[in-house]
Amino acid sequence: MKIYKVKNYDEMSKKAASVIAAQIVTKPDCVLGLATGSTPIGTYECLVEKYRNGELDFSEVKTANLDEYKGLTKDNDQSYYYFMNHHLFSHVNIDMAQTNIPDGTAQDAAAECARYEDVIRSLGGVDLQVLGLGHDGHIGFNEPDDHFAAETHCVDLTEMTIEANKRFFASADDVPRQAFTMGIGTIMRARRIVFLVSGSDKAEILKKSLYGPVTPAVPASILQFHPDVVVIADEAAMAGC
Ligand code: F6R
Repeated sequence: MKIYKVKNYDEMSKKAASVIAAQIVTKPDCVLGLATGSTPIGTYECLVEKYRNGELDFSEVKTANLDEYKGLTKDNDQSYYYFMNHHLFSHVNIDMAQTNIPDGTAQDAAAECARYEDVIRSLGGVDLQVLGLGHDGHIGFNEPDDHFAAETHCVDLTEMTIEANKRFFASADDVPRQAFTMGIGTIMRARRIVFLVSGSDKAEILKKSLYGPVTPAVPASILQFHPDVVVIADEAAMAGC
């Protein structure tokens, strides 16, 4: 693990964008695994800026997002499809046909998970996976459990995650109760992982993830076993480390 401790959220975002930009420059047709949530928004802003400055070309880039809420349509402004368009895709020259996100409206959950895993496989796997960290240690929507899920699957969100994500919805009741997510195995097969963490509210779980026992009770702890993880965390998040 390479751990970069940076001053604050802005520095984290700039550094993350540099790592992702280097990936795009060295392999223009790379497969980026992307995350949503508050953490990567600044990173996506920096990438858009680099594109506008003529430093980056997304025309050959392919993407696979980590997860999507079950039951939300693409045009729902809380769907991760909407998020990605809003924060990144609509601002750069990416080919939308090359972007992939689980279909939140799929009725047959098992079929959708199998389809999504096939998509990732057919892309040749993920070159660089961006990850954020949930307060309970989740990555993607892999919530604490008694085992690590190997592949894309449909999960029940925990009360802690519903509580954390209700800020984006009118009320907690509006937060979907289920989501499709890449499995821990899917994530671990990415060739490189960029793990972004910001804020004092993540300090305790970041310490457990980086230095605690590797256990499905703290899903992010599995990253200790990945051969190429770049952690970019700000001082507040690193306070306990
Ligand atoms: C989002 C995702 C989640 C978030 C995590 C942290 O695609 O997979 O694991 O990364 O919930 O969310 P924020 O960044 O909002 O604190």
